[in-house]
Amino acid sequence: MDRELTPAQIVKWLDRHVIGQDQAKRAVAIALRNRYRRRHADREIRSEIYPSNLIMMGPTGIGKTEIARRLANLTGAPFVKVEATKYTETGYVGRDVESMVRALVRQAVNIEAEKERRDRKEQVDRVVNGKLVDALKNSGYDSMAEGELLSMLETSALEDTQIEMMLPDQLPQMEIMPLVPGDGFDNPAGENIKKLMQKMIGGRRKRTKLAVSEARERLREDELGRLLEGSDHIARGMNLAQEEGIIFIDEIDKIIGISESKGPEVSRAGVQRDLLPIVEGCTVPTRYGPVVTDHILFIAAGAFHGSSPADLIPELQGRFPMRVELAPLSEDDLFRILTEPENSLLRQYTALLKADGVDIRLSPKAAREVARVANHLNEETEDIGARRLRPVLSYLLDEQLFGAPDLVRGTVTISGSAASSILLDLADRREDGNYIL
Ligand SMILES: Nc1ncnc2c1ncn2[C@@H]1O[C@H](COP(=O)(O)OP(=O)(O)OP(=O)(O)O)[C@@H](O)[C@H]1O
Ligand SMILES: [Mg+2]
Repeated sequence: MDRELTPAQIVKWLDRHVIGQDQAKRAVAIALRNRYRRRHADREIRSEIYPSNLIMMGPTGIGKTEIARRLANLTGAPFVKVEATKYTETGYVGRDVESMVRALVRQAVNIEAEKERRDRKEQVDRVVNGKLVDALKNSGYDSMAEGELLSMLETSALEDTQIEMMLPDQLPQMEIMPLVPGDGFDNPAGENIKKLMQKMIGGRRKRTKLAVSEARERLREDELGRLLEGSDHIARGMNLAQEEGIIFIDEIDKIIGISESKGPEVSRAGVQRDLLPIVEGCTVPTRYGPVVTDHILFIAAGAFHGSSPADLIPELQGRFPMRVELAPLSEDDLFRILTEPENSLLRQYTALLKADGVDIRLSPKAAREVARVANHLNEETEDIGARRLRPVLSYLLDEQLFGAPDLVRGTVTISGSAASSILLDLADRREDGNYIL
């Protein structure tokens, strides 16, 4: 959880997972670092500095979402990824755009709650252990010293021991359904009913007989709940969302309307108009309170096939001042994507087959063949970028994927020439105009 990474460090980390696309990585790294810089700028100018919102453009399957996804894992910042096409204009049935902010805040509050839980773990454990010791003493272990019982608890020697103690009554598991269909995200009414019931029942304690292990869980939960109630994690979460939140809006090009026709396009421009205040900076009511979106970083992405960001409504364009184009992937890129990333496709398939006792070894030439054929198919049929690698690799490994563990076992080495003769078949399908991929 390091939010202070420099642009070079961010790019270096992204390099471990995403091949090429240096410009996009740089742009994302700068946008992220600019927020850190803003926080450290003089107070008078700080609130004037707006995020370097960014649009990533480029054909399908070349790493747009992948960059955003990896960025999310890298920073401790709250991050949500949404699809622009999932929203409908206000007033229509469907998800309204404000729900992305609510989701972000919820995530940020969770991050802070989790942090609080971690920070208080020792404190909680101490309290819980104290209560367990008391309960043990009341359950037939009264002759033993406290220290002795504590160390037995620590070594898990007493997990199954039955004890009796006063515990808060458990709320019956139930889900309160929202009355209004919508984003399914926030359900303040249901939450309130739950809280009310918790108050009514939760205050009640009951003598309960149970195993130490279970008692520990219940006590922990109880103790943490009490701690969280008194802590300011919600305020910190809201602040975190406002200052460091990142919202990734995918498929932004899909809400470009073609102006001549009426119908769904009207609603798409409507979604853009709804989006505008959020990206521009406004206050969104959430279950935790109002959240200001001024400094949330928005990264949008789209293929912009046959359209351009200039087709977005002008006000929205203005709110995405940074543009970065991602390049289509070459055969060489595909080869590197197949083999280089930490959890590359090749490593994934190797791991899959290993589970069935097959040790698959692709020679570099064979991997090169996969990239070559994938590239060829992208050129000859539809260019789906790196997504092409998977079907080609599955085709190459079909015999092992099907045969393991019954027919194929042990080490299997696939040479370049073997790969090319298997994959020849695949490329040959073109003759009868009948690609399977
Ligand atoms: N440059 C790359 N480096 C590593 N892996 C990549 C790269 N480009 C694509 N991939 C792989 O291909 C898959 C699809 O890529 P991604 O989801 O980023 O596509 P996209 O650019 O967002 O396309 P779309 O416009 O269809 O959403 C990902 O699972 C990723 O593993
Ligand atoms: Mg994508």
